[in-house]
Amino acid sequence: MTTEIDARVRMVREVERGASVLSSRVVEAFLNVPRHPFVPVFYRRDGEEYVPTRGHGDEWLRAVYTDEVLVTEVDGVHAEDAPDGGVAGVATSSSTAPGLMAEMLDALDVRPGDLVWEIGTGTGYNAALLSHLAGAATVTTVDRAARLVDAARERLREVGFEPAVLRADGAGAPPLGGPFDRIIATCAVRRVPRSWLEQCVTGGVIVAPIGNALGGGAVVCLTKLPGGGAEGRFLHRPAAFMHLRVDGSTAAPDLAPPPTGRRRTSVVGACAMDDQAFAFWAGLCLPPATVRDGGTLYDPTDGSTAHVDDHPGRPSTVTASGPRDLWQLVESAWTAWRHHHRPRREWFTLTVRADGPQTVSFTASDGTVVSWALGGERVDAPGAATPRSMHPFEHSA
Ligand SMILES: C[S@@+](CC[C@H](N)C(=O)[O-])C[C@H]1O[C@@H](n2cnc3c(N)ncnc32)[C@H](O)[C@@H]1O
Repeated sequence: MTTEIDARVRMVREVERGASVLSSRVVEAFLNVPRHPFVPVFYRRDGEEYVPTRGHGDEWLRAVYTDEVLVTEVDGVHAEDAPDGGVAGVATSSSTAPGLMAEMLDALDVRPGDLVWEIGTGTGYNAALLSHLAGAATVTTVDRAARLVDAARERLREVGFEPAVLRADGAGAPPLGGPFDRIIATCAVRRVPRSWLEQCVTGGVIVAPIGNALGGGAVVCLTKLPGGGAEGRFLHRPAAFMHLRVDGSTAAPDLAPPPTGRRRTSVVGACAMDDQAFAFWAGLCLPPATVRDGGTLYDPTDGSTAHVDDHPGRPSTVTASGPRDLWQLVESAWTAWRHHHRPRREWFTLTVRADGPQTVSFTASDGTVVSWALGGERVDAPGAATPRSMHPFEHSA
């Protein structure tokens, strides 16, 4: 029989094996804070359905104490309220994979007594770890849904923590109690909201997933600078977080109309988007509102659509319509990415200026600084790579 402590220790060993070196404080937090009270019911994927998993046996315990994400809400239906037959839809809340949580907490570098703001309470497990690291009295966590915050508050109390758990829009007005020494988001944004920057003390740290159209998200760790800006690096580990939702938005992506343009071939297949390192890069090259649905890319702002079919042993076929050929942007990104030796996420920095602009950059091996403006403030419309510079946003150091 597996005891809960055995299962917890095994999970922590698994997390340590998969991560870069973690601080002993973070490892100790994971050893001390149980995960199972926060996920009494979670969903398992069964084809198109999400089926609730309830129980307390060995198998359930092993499933809880793995380095895996556990989905706890689908299209607003909390796992604890789900019918036994399951629900279909899009995951809207989950307990993040512990290995990724550990790396984010390590980067956040929380000290006892730090004022901490978490955006995305979810199950409350991360808030419990933050409470262990900082002390619950100085932790504030917010989520958009009353059902989630009520359940999380209760579970936190059960394990002995009473941080402030509030229903609020994490991109809206900040909660009382700031400015904060540490801010952590567990839902992805396309650019860092101004309120996070304003609510962080100088020298404080903001850890946040930056999402993109292709699911090539990555976590950035920023330090707030004197003067109001912030700067920092991306973490090595890929991070496909669910996006921060603005009021009233649904989790379902906009559906692309079928493209009607001419068919052509491409040496870049749709499968290239499944390489998360490339997806990080290519996502930065696409218009910010682009969504991906399998082999289809769609920009709802101008109606551009590209659909790509892969054929084993033959070039892929592309059908594009609308004012921009979105697949051509991916092809240009592919050429530039290979030219720059497939740069990894952790080579990139993000600079956020107090007056607005947010820029991702990395220094290529020839000293060229390659940079993009993040999320909706492109310096130029993306297009074909120019022959001299490999990317329209590239400029020399
Ligand atoms: C991956 S889950 C969070 C996991 C959580 N930290 C835990 O330990 O269980 C992402 C959460 O972000 C929340 N979220 C999405 N948009 C939000 C918003 N605008 N404001 C606050 N929370 C939001 C979702 O409701 C969801 O619970």
